This record gives sequence, C-alpha cells and structure tokens, in this order.
Amino acid sequence: MNDVLMSFVDVEKTYTSGLSTLTILEHLYLDVVEGESIAITGKSGCGKSTLLNLAGGLDRATQGEIYFKGTPLSSFNDKKLSHFRNGHIGFVFQSHILLEDFTALENICIPSIIRGESKRSVIKRAYMLLERVELLDRMAHHPQKLSGGERQRVAICRALINSPDIIIADEPTGSLDEESSSSIESLLFDIVQEENKTLLLVTHDTSLASRCSKIFTLTHRSLEEKL
Ligand SMILES: Nc1ncnc2c1ncn2[C@@H]1O[C@H](COP(=O)(O)OP(=O)(O)O)[C@@H](O)[C@H]1O
Ligand SMILES: [Mg+2]
Repeated sequence: MNDVLMSFVDVEKTYTSGLSTLTILEHLYLDVVEGESIAITGKSGCGKSTLLNLAGGLDRATQGEIYFKGTPLSSFNDKKLSHFRNGHIGFVFQSHILLEDFTALENICIPSIIRGESKRSVIKRAYMLLERVELLDRMAHHPQKLSGGERQRVAICRALINSPDIIIADEPTGSLDEESSSSIESLLFDIVQEENKTLLLVTHDTSLASRCSKIFTLTHRSLEEKL
C-alpha cells in the first residue's frame, strides 16, 4: 500500500474582509503519497499559493481537514504548528527570502540551529548541499552579493537542511529569467529525487510539470488531475 504523507479532505479556504467573504478553495481533496512529486498549475490568482500555505501549515483551512501522517493539522496550536513546519517542511518561495545580514552558509544553517542540532553536523550537511548546487565558493557571501539564481540555490539548500519530509515550492523561479528558471527548477527537481523527498510544486513550466509523477490544475476552487 502507498504511504500517504499528506491528505486534504474536503478543504475550504475563505478570506473575509469586512462584510465580504471570498471563497478561494472549496471541496478540495488531495492525497500526497510519500516520494511522489506533484505539479500544480493554474491561472494567476486561482489559489495556488493559498493551497501551498495550507499544506505547509503557514495558514489554516476554514473548513475540512489537512492530515500529515494521519495527524490533523487543526489539532496543533500555533507553537506546535511552527515546530511542525521547521521539522517536516522545506519551503522554496518565488522570491528568495534570505536574511540579508547573514552569509549564504549561515542562512542555510539557521533552521537546524533553531532545532538545537549540533553545529558540526549542520555545517557538514550545509557544505554537502552547497557543493551539490555548486556554490561552495560563495558560502561566505551575503545575499546582496549573489545573483538571483544563486540566491534561489541557497534557498533550496536551506529548504533541505533539516531533511524535511516534503519540499513545497511556489513558482520557485518566478522572478528569474527563462534560462536560469529552467535550470533552477530542474536542479530542485533533481535534488529532491536524489534525497528521496516528496515534492509539491507550483510551476508554469510544462516540461518540468511533465517530469512530475502527477499534474493537477487548480480550477473552480478545486483540483483536477491531468491524466
Ligand atoms: N490574505 C489574503 N486576504 C484576502 N485575499 C487574499 C489573501 N491572500 C490571497 N488572497 C486572494 O486569494 C486569491 C488567490 O490568491 P493566491 O493563492 O495567491 O493565487 P495564485 O498563487 O494562484 O496566484 C487572489 O484573488 C488573492 O487576491
Ligand atoms: Mg502564487
């Protein structure tokens, strides 16, 4: 039997401001099986980032439930939810969110240091990841001294440092030119495969989407599998 890592069961997400309520996701179901890669496509504004934020515990569903290894995320208080994120989820966002006052190496190590892991083993793993993305010679650089593509490569290392169960990537190359986009997305895809991780990826790159085990389109507030 396949091991389901994460499942969305009849999930609804609404945003309320003042008197108006906007329903973004409705009757949404999704099973994410361990080790698979899922690509999500859809028009701008249809709710892809909203969906990823729910999956990663950055936001909460309005109705329905999201289970992670069988545990409902709604059972976590905010502190437990943030602990869950740090331990199980690796995020790569559209624009890099690196801390400007820290070097590339420090940015990568911070999530593990927060977890209280030994500095020595964290740095060893960070070196291994930096070597994999061909950035060992840039490890002492601050983010402002790195190109957009290099910053995204650092963000990929940071997402992987804690060996998360799943990598959640939201248009990881949205802010790069086309050439660096496709190379960064394939690099992310390759590393996730090498590390046997699960991937939930929002992308506009159809050739990358076709390398994923499943492709879904977010449409009419729900997911449709492209077979
Ligand atoms: N915090 C928020 N409050 C209110 N509306 C929001 C919020 N975040 C996103 N939205 C709205 O939800 C819709 C979906 O947004 P988003 O998930 O970012 O779409 P996508 O990532 O597919 O482009 C958009 O119409 C957006 O304006
Ligand atoms: Mg988005």
